Order: sequence, then structure tokens, then C-alpha cells
Amino acid sequence: MSRKILVTSALPYANGAIHLGHLVEYIQTDIWVRFQKMSGNECWYVCADDTHGTPIMLRAEKEGITPEQLIERVHGEHFRDFSGFMVGFDNYHSTHSPENRECANDIYGKLKAAGLIETRTIEQYYDPVKQMFLPDRFIKGECPKCGAKDQYGDNCESCGAAYAPTDLISPYSAVSGAKPELRNSEHYFFKLSDPRCEAFLRQYTARDNGVLQPEAANKMQEWLGAAGENKLTDWDISRDAPYFGFEIPDAPGKYFYVWLDAPIGYMGSFKNLCAKQGLDFDEYFKADAKTELYHFIGKDILYFHALFWPAELQHAGYRTPTKIFAHGFLTVDGAKMSKSRGTFITAESFLKTGLNPEWLRYYFAAKLSATMEDIDLNFEDFCARVNSDLVGKYVNIASRSAGFIAKRFNGQLAPADASLPAIKAIQEAAPRIAELYEAREFAKAMREIMALTDIANQYVDSVKPWELAKQEGKDVELHAACSNALNLFRLLTVLLKPILPVVAGKVEKFMNIAPLAWGDTQGLLAAGHAINAYEHLMTRVDPKLIEKLVEANKESLAPAVNPENSHKSAESQQRHAQHQQNEIKAERPWEPFCNIDDFMKVDLRIARIANAEHVEGADKLVRLTLDIGNNETRNVFAGIKSAYDPAQVVGRLTVMVANLAPRKMKFGMSEGMVLAASDTTGKTPGIFLLSPDSGAEPGMRVK
Ligand code: MSP
Ligand code: ZN
Repeated sequence: MSRKILVTSALPYANGAIHLGHLVEYIQTDIWVRFQKMSGNECWYVCADDTHGTPIMLRAEKEGITPEQLIERVHGEHFRDFSGFMVGFDNYHSTHSPENRECANDIYGKLKAAGLIETRTIEQYYDPVKQMFLPDRFIKGECPKCGAKDQYGDNCESCGAAYAPTDLISPYSAVSGAKPELRNSEHYFFKLSDPRCEAFLRQYTARDNGVLQPEAANKMQEWLGAAGENKLTDWDISRDAPYFGFEIPDAPGKYFYVWLDAPIGYMGSFKNLCAKQGLDFDEYFKADAKTELYHFIGKDILYFHALFWPAELQHAGYRTPTKIFAHGFLTVDGAKMSKSRGTFITAESFLKTGLNPEWLRYYFAAKLSATMEDIDLNFEDFCARVNSDLVGKYVNIASRSAGFIAKRFNGQLAPADASLPAIKAIQEAAPRIAELYEAREFAKAMREIMALTDIANQYVDSVKPWELAKQEGKDVELHAACSNALNLFRLLTVLLKPILPVVAGKVEKFMNIAPLAWGDTQGLLAAGHAINAYEHLMTRVDPKLIEKLVEANKESLAPAVNPENSHKSAESQQRHAQHQQNEIKAERPWEPFCNIDDFMKVDLRIARIANAEHVEGADKLVRLTLDIGNNETRNVFAGIKSAYDPAQVVGRLTVMVANLAPRKMKFGMSEGMVLAASDTTGKTPGIFLLSPDSGAEPGMRVK
């Protein structure tokens, strides 16, 4: 019997570009959805942009546009990027939509009627210059524990301490730099600590209830506290104007906090789809719904999805999620994604550089499991796997057999040998592989599929069509060998179709067959079936493309003037502002101390800027010619264009890293790096080149 399934991925924030980390989630979800659809289930995949909140409001202001204009532009960019990776949403909506407002008001009204909304006056930091209350992430100051400067209002990145913004020493507003004042304001709370919520959540998140992965269920038990010890605290769901969001119906000047209407955005997007497709919304959301609801999310937003969201749904009289699937974080070459290393890779740059999105889909599939473990994108491994598995093994089967069918047999197939061990092996494995897809054990599924591909290749190697083709009177054997090989290839294509929808489409075209469904694993092509001309399916990864990709994502050589920080911190600020109660922090690999020997490896020298010029086509870079004494000059690209006119720096002294390995950049060779300071909070915008005291000469060592 066919199931009815509604699937979501987390709604990406509307103030940043989609990057490869995001894609782990959207590709994982898309594979699962494609598998469900191929299996004959009615499955709807909805998503939306998460558009509300202070960071988006401030970002729009900085760009000189309205928040509505910002979110509309980003919506287009996000949709383009997802489509480029074949993420096949049935609806990609926005949380800033009439449907979402309706759903948010409805849920709020029902929670209020149930006695689960309460108002309370709280004391909060207010920026008197910007005239707004400040989210925790927009307040900085000295850590009350270790004294580290410029720490955020919720936790210290230096010692890891968690605290309230009011604990910070010498706090300042990250928006205006002003000293914040404490002011009172009335806030709306969702009473998560209510015994009804506690009782429900204990049962809902229990390990044996099966909604959560075991490690997530364990985490929830910690958050809930031991029986009798209710650790849940009420959730602040309102924010004061100015705020970009939905105004609370009965509370002028108060807005729903972005995280209130974000998960409701799943409903809003689905409601919009229902209107377009004539679907019955209630069939998916009423309290006793028989349909299934799954949320794919990253482990960093578990608290919102496993506690707040189900508690809201339950007490507003709706169904709760069938299961919540959390995944781990993406690292690149073993480290957190970084713009200075060029590993903070945007979806757009991946496609623009000419890399095939299905390579990434396959690579992620080969790494994904049902756990919350982080996954690593290792570029060497990426090239090796794609080239060996997809091109060397899978595509190879078709490319070694299709040509003979066209040339020698008029495009027509001979009957397949149903008793061939390789064919039987695939047909027997298919239900097992289906279970692995269903269980999100994609890496295991890929391993099984590649083992079957090996068996298929062994068959082709044993019959050697290329030799049969050269021998007189071997037509029957050649015809049988190639027909079996193409049948094997068709079966393997079914198994890989959730991962490789474009390749599968090309295979369907050249094999002249209807769109492959999972059930097709049990059948074979009829004798006499005519195929079309073989179409080239997939090229190998050229490692040079990876180099290009990494270069394209390296915007500046000087980490001090790294533009990543403004972007990254907006993102992490938002994340943290919204994760007021979230104990699972996005992993932040500890930057290890360096000892004096490490430091001495860096050869810092005084340099005179002998020449400086604009770089055609670069918005951030200036090309510097540095005189480092002894008649030696270096060509260096520096990301200082926003702060310095080239003419203005010619002749001055600065400090450079003289032994940085030369690097080829988009605009030419860069042979070092100049040092500059910048305030990554944006409080004091600008880039400040270092200068030595007078008397220093080019070539002098700095230590
Ligand atoms: N807007 C919230 C989600 C609201 S859902 C009602 C949000 N947005 S996000 O853009 O920061 O992240 C979207 C999803 O991408 C989240 O599930 C997040 O965990 C995931 N990822 C973001 N960076 C990631 C990696 N580096 N690696 C893996 N997943 C990552 O959170
Ligand atoms: Zn500290």
C-alpha cells in the first residue's frame, strides 16, 4: 500500500549563500525523497527561506534595501542553487508569506487558549543609539570568567564559559558600539515548563518511542532532567519593534521571534502547496493524521525541533512529527570550512567552476549514515571515489557494450539471461538496498551497489565483447554479452537513480525506456527492444578543477582582512542569538596554541610598497609590488581595496610574511601577504595596514 509522506529540510536563513555544508542536508533529504517517490509512495518535499529576525533586518539596512527586497533576491539565489544540485522541492516557499502568518497566528491563538502563553517583564540590554533591544549575539564585552575581550553575549569563544549578556564586563553594542542600557520590556512566553509539556515531551522524546535517533533521545533526557526534576524553561517567543517579522495579533509593537514562525514555515509552505496541488492540508496535519511527517535537520537545531516544535503542535491540537532526522556537520579536509583556506565553498562557485553536482551527490551519499556524526569532504578521496566508482566502474559497463548494439545489431537487444549470477545478485540485493535507503544508511547502500557493480564488470571482463567483436562468427555471443551487460547497467541505474537523477535521465533516453521506478529492479528488457544512440554519461573529475574551486573561494590572502568574517559572523551571530537554550553548539575545533618555534617559522619582514594598482575584475584586491631589500621585490595581492586607494599606499612601509608559499590566484601569482588589522564585528569598519616605527628598513626581520 502506498504511503503518504510529507518531508522537510530545515529552512535556510535568507541572509547568506548556500554552501556545501547546507548541501549535506538538502542532498540527503532529496535522495530520501526521490527514493520514496520511485518506490511508489506519495511523497511531498517542502522547504522555504527563513526570512525573519534581527540579522536579516540589519543586513538589509546595510545594503540600503528593504528586508522584503533582500529576502526576495536571496530566495531567487537559493532556489537557483538548490535546483543546480537537483534538490527537487515540490515547493520552495518563504516564511514571510500570508500562509505562514495565518499558521503562526493560529498556533499562537490555540496555545494561548490552552493557557500556555504568559507575559512577563524582563530586563534586557537596549542600544540607545540604534534604539533597539539587542539580541545576545549583538552584545559584546569582556568574558566574566577569563577576561577575554570582545566576546559575545552568550558564551566565550576563548574559555567556553556560558553566561548571560548582563554578566559581560564593559559591554558594548555590536551594532553601534554604544554602551547598552538595561531596560524593561514585556515579553511573551510559551510555557514549556508546564507539566503538560513536560509529560508530553518525556514520552515523545523517549528512546523507545523511536521519533529520535538514540543519541538525540539521550540528549533530550539530559535537557529534560531526571524524572521529577523538570529542567525545561519557558521560551521567550516575542521581540520588540523594530523587528522584521510578524506582529503578534493582540500585541501591537511585539513580534513573533523568528524561531517561532520558522518551523511553522513547514506548514505554511505545505499549505501553499496544497492550494496549488489540490491537496488536503488536514490529512497531513490534523491530530490523528495517518500520514507521515519527517523533518531532516542539522544537529545544531535539535532543541527547536525535538522540544519546542512538537510541544507547540501537540498543544495546538495538531499531529506531531513521525520522526526527526538529525545529521552531523560538514568539514573540509578535516577542518571547519574556512574562507581563508578556500574551503568555505558556495554552491554557486561549485557549479560555476564546472564541477558536476552529481559528483557531490554521490560523494555525500557515500559518506552519509543515519547518525549525527560529522562528515568530511576530503578532496583527494572525492576525486578517487567519483573517478573509480562512478566513471571507472558504473559508466564503464555501458560504454563497453552499448556501441556494439548500435553498430552491429541495429540497436536491438537480444534476450537477457535471467539466470546470470550478476543479474540475480542485483535482483536479490534490491530489497536490502531499499531498506538501507529507507533507513538513511546511504553509505552502506553505496557500498552494496558498488560491490554489485564489480560483479557486473567481472561478467563483462569474462565475456570480453571487444574481443568477440573481432572474431568471425561470434555475433550471437557478442549480442548476448552486450545485451546482458546493458541489462545489468539498467538495473544498477535504478539503484543509483535517487543519487544520480540526471545520469538516470540520460540512461532512460539512450535505452529508450520509461522513467525507472524501484520495481524495475525485478524486470529485464524484452528481446528486440531497440535502444537509441549511446549518450556520454559522465566525465572524470580533473583535480585541476578542485584547485580552481578552492582558488575561487579564496577571496583574500590576508586573514586579517578576510571578508569571511563579516559574512560568517552574521551567520553565527544569528545562529547563536537564536540558540538561546541550545546546548549543542556547532563544532568549533579548538585552535591549538603555537609555541615560539612555530611562530619563528613565519618570516615577517619590513616591506616598502614600491607600487600598487587596481586589479581588473577583483572587487577586493589590490596588486602590490613589495620591495623587501637586497633588490628583491614580491608581487602580492592584498584585500585592502575597500579601505585604500592604491595611489595612497605607494611608498609606505608595512610588514609582510616573506616565506608564505607562493600561490597562483585567479589574477596571477601571489608571493606573500601583508599584515593588516580589522574588527570582525563590524563595529569599527575598515582595514588598517601595519606600519613599523620610523627608521625601519625594507628587509628587516620582524619578531
Ligand atoms: N534557519 C534555521 C533553520 C530553521 S528550520 C525551521 C537555520 N538555518 S541555516 O541556514 O543556518 O541552516 C540550515 C540547515 O543547514 C540546518 O539544518 C543546519 O544544520 C544545516 N547546516 C548549516 N551548515 C552546515 C554544515 N556545515 N554542515 C552540515 N549542515 C549544515 O539553522
Ligand atoms: Zn572566557
